[in-house]
Amino acid sequence: MTVQADRVPRIISMTNQVGGSGKSTSAVSLGAQLAEFGLKTLVVDADDQCDASVALGYMFPDQLEGQKTIYDCLTDKSVKLQDAIVPALCGPHGAEGTRVIDNLFLVLGSGEMENAEQYLTTAMARELWLKRLLDPVKGDYDVIIIDCPGSLGLVVIGAILVSDEVVACIKPGFKELRGLTRIEQKIAAVQEEFVEYGAHAQLTGVLLVDVPSHRSQGAVWDDGKKMAKEAYGDLVLPGSGEGQLGIRRSTKIPESYAHQKVLLYFDRAGDATADYLEVARAMGFKRVSK
Ligand SMILES: Nc1ncnc2c1ncn2[C@@H]1O[C@H](COP(=O)(O)OP(=O)(O)OP(=O)(O)O)[C@@H](O)[C@H]1O
Ligand SMILES: [Mg+2]
Repeated sequence: MTVQADRVPRIISMTNQVGGSGKSTSAVSLGAQLAEFGLKTLVVDADDQCDASVALGYMFPDQLEGQKTIYDCLTDKSVKLQDAIVPALCGPHGAEGTRVIDNLFLVLGSGEMENAEQYLTTAMARELWLKRLLDPVKGDYDVIIIDCPGSLGLVVIGAILVSDEVVACIKPGFKELRGLTRIEQKIAAVQEEFVEYGAHAQLTGVLLVDVPSHRSQGAVWDDGKKMAKEAYGDLVLPGSGEGQLGIRRSTKIPESYAHQKVLLYFDRAGDATADYLEVARAMGFKRVSK
């Protein structure tokens, strides 16, 4: 594919203020699928747990010699985002057999992002932190996916502000569904406050993750699927197969993370892999011709 520096990427935030709701898994799994479609894709690891970085090969992002991270970019104006971008890997960094994933790139996360909220509290134009970083590089990518931390603080506000789309990842339950109202309110508030900075993000998808595939596996969660559909209609992203919603529960997901190999290549023929493919299609992405 020819490299153009003038693309208009789709910028998508994977959010939920609740921890463990499938944001990081979905950011990297969707990212890998889009890269496989031939779309140049950047995953931004904005969470101090660095799960997206780990999943894409970098177990200790703060310990790579001479390598900048997202935290360096946040706190030091002389560091450009470009300096924190690395190729995504299938397998652990430095291990034999590890390979670069074509078209997939990563803004390296950092454990120091645990100080980001505190840093931003007193920073100038704090809500614009990620816009300022992404603006110079975004024309190099077709898609940018931001893996947000499990909060709705300043880090996430900055992600929503720069995004076109917000996808809320949730486990299918009543309590989880109720939590989406807060995300919707935050999106509306960011739009209202920062419209002059181009804030225009919309909630464009509700992605159910870790969905039991048989009723016997979880009647409560099955009801959760129904409730999600009733509340959010077509925003609820499908999975693969008749009537399937979201990403089915799969032991391959935690296994793939432990092996630092994205699901697409760890379990190519698996159910959850097929579900992420369907989600990518439902979001309007398709394979690009070379
Ligand atoms: N479809 C699935 N089947 C089985 N396990 C899953 C599935 N999706 C996610 N998980 C597991 O659920 C856990 C939480 O997922 P993940 O780390 O993606 O959530 P998160 O929202 O990014 O969490 P945090 O807010 O802590 O960053 C992980 O252990 C992951 O392996
Ligand atoms: Mg995460």
